[in-house]
Amino acid sequence: MLPITTRKELNQHLSLVKKNQKLGLVPTMGALHLGHVALVKRAILENDVVVVTIFVNPTQFNNKKDLENYPHTLNTDIAILKEISENILVFAPLTKEMYTNEVKSKNYNFGGLEYVMEGAFRGGHFNGVGTIVESLFKIVKPDSAYFGEKDFQQLQIIRKLVEIKKIPVKIIGCPIVRESNGLALSSRNERLSKSTRNEAGFIYKTLISAKKLFGTESANIIKDWVRNQFKDHPRLELEYIEITETKTLKPIIRKRQNRKYRAFIAVYADGVRLIDNIALN
Ligand code: PAJ
Repeated sequence: MLPITTRKELNQHLSLVKKNQKLGLVPTMGALHLGHVALVKRAILENDVVVVTIFVNPTQFNNKKDLENYPHTLNTDIAILKEISENILVFAPLTKEMYTNEVKSKNYNFGGLEYVMEGAFRGGHFNGVGTIVESLFKIVKPDSAYFGEKDFQQLQIIRKLVEIKKIPVKIIGCPIVRESNGLALSSRNERLSKSTRNEAGFIYKTLISAKKLFGTESANIIKDWVRNQFKDHPRLELEYIEITETKTLKPIIRKRQNRKYRAFIAVYADGVRLIDNIALN
């Protein structure tokens, strides 16, 4: 299984897809783990042809060091995909193939979803994500595209993107895959020491406790409680804890009936930035 590296070659493969066949897309930045594998397996179950893209998108990195440190493991990634199915189309383009003129993001108005949490702490991040995902949708024209709830804000932004750009693709959100201690799988976990990786299970444990508290306590009390918990874990530096409405991602003011809420967290562990989230009701 060789990766397809140019749009031209990808188009040749896609031209063989018949009108009555379903086409699924799984965008990734590679360094594949079981979280990505779950998306790919779901896409295979629900489609006749599946395209997995592997592209470390420079415009979504607000931090140059983070981009430089991002793992590139194309050969291992291809071996993992081959193990799942020989028929996956792997598109792994170079930057110049995706950004023909300038390596620059477009500017989007995501209706406020882009200003909170990851948007507030990673300036320009969602413009970069929107730019690359819109390009991939235009190139591949999938019936369905698969994204993880691990990056829940990204998932909501992509739903907004297809709404504002009227792109005819079904967006499928998939549950978070975790390590045995609860830590959400992430390519970044590889950069943690063994002991920090163990300790980082505390992030999810805290989210579960927050969920329990949500039955009786106010959001502010819960957020203060979480901040306090992290004081006993100096190796885990809390960046933010937020509780928002699920759809709008607006920070909760007062709990209302028939509304869904979610807690979001970002933590630095040994200097590695980890994010997670949980449905509260
Ligand atoms: P990446 O971080 O490689 O993630 C690719 C997809 O895998 C995303 O939809 C992400 O939410 C999902 N994913 C990652 N870890 C997961 C886990 N533990 N459980 C379930 N799903 C998980 O997200 C990106 O790449 C990029 O922003 C991208 C969308 C490819 C645009 O460049």
